[in-house]
Amino acid sequence: MSFLKLEHIHHTYFTKTSATTALSDISLEVKEGEFISFLGPSGCGKTTLLSIIAGLFQPTEGTILLENQSVNKSKKKIGYMLQQDYLFPWKTIEENILLGLKIFGNEDSAKKEYAYSLLEEMGLKGYEKQYPKQLSGGMRQRVALVRTLVTEPKLLMLDEPFSALDYQTKLRLEDLVSETLKSFGKTAILVTHDIGEAIAMSDRIYLFSARPGQIHKSFKVPKELRELSPFQARNHENYTHLFQEIWKELESLE
Ligand SMILES: Nc1ncnc2c1ncn2[C@@H]1O[C@H](COP(=O)(O)OP(=O)(O)OP(=O)(O)O)[C@@H](O)[C@H]1O
Ligand SMILES: [Mg+2]
Repeated sequence: MSFLKLEHIHHTYFTKTSATTALSDISLEVKEGEFISFLGPSGCGKTTLLSIIAGLFQPTEGTILLENQSVNKSKKKIGYMLQQDYLFPWKTIEENILLGLKIFGNEDSAKKEYAYSLLEEMGLKGYEKQYPKQLSGGMRQRVALVRTLVTEPKLLMLDEPFSALDYQTKLRLEDLVSETLKSFGKTAILVTHDIGEAIAMSDRIYLFSARPGQIHKSFKVPKELRELSPFQARNHENYTHLFQEIWKELESLE
């Protein structure tokens, strides 16, 4: 049984004067515990697809099943992390990370303990009473990750979560996120523009073509890279082969 199954997803955005087909005939399957990346040119519908998987809106056609259930019934199982951290500036770090629990009416002491332990794991102990503006971009993204993990989602969606960060912070966070998700056996879908990041973090990569977004090709990341941390994977000789292969495909799309 596949964990996540998308069948023939089409999506068209309608406005009063126009219709934009963002996605056409997307079918794919994800196994539990897999880390998948979506790569593709700007505007090819990656965010649209994540939003549909998250159950934020319905596709114009097609079905999505998470553990054999419609996503509308399983929204609680899904966590979403975005390019911008969307922390509430008027709430402290502590209030921000406990928010998800509050919304789901799940704020018992064991869950709170778990939230604090995650914060510590992310190197943020001592920042509980501070406000987001007192933290750096990388720290805020780590808080956002804690907030996403606290509700214990089974599926994590990461929409370019590292793209606003400086290169060094991005590499460090890639390792931290990868290690954390692996240790919890979480299933994740990452949207990125960075071929290297997709290779370093994923088990499989879907390359989308633009207008309307379709799956152009999928790539399996070789085992010897998957066993390494993202940082180590970037320095492995086989990384370059796959990078060039994907690069060529991306160029052929333009
Ligand atoms: N709410 C909306 N109403 C109308 N059209 C939209 C809406 N959201 C997205 N689109 C259109 O759908 C297409 C896909 O957009 P989407 O944001 O999913 O792309 P993306 O692959 O995430 O792009 P990027 O890499 O730049 O983030 C684009 O042509 C966009 O203009
Ligand atoms: Mg997007």
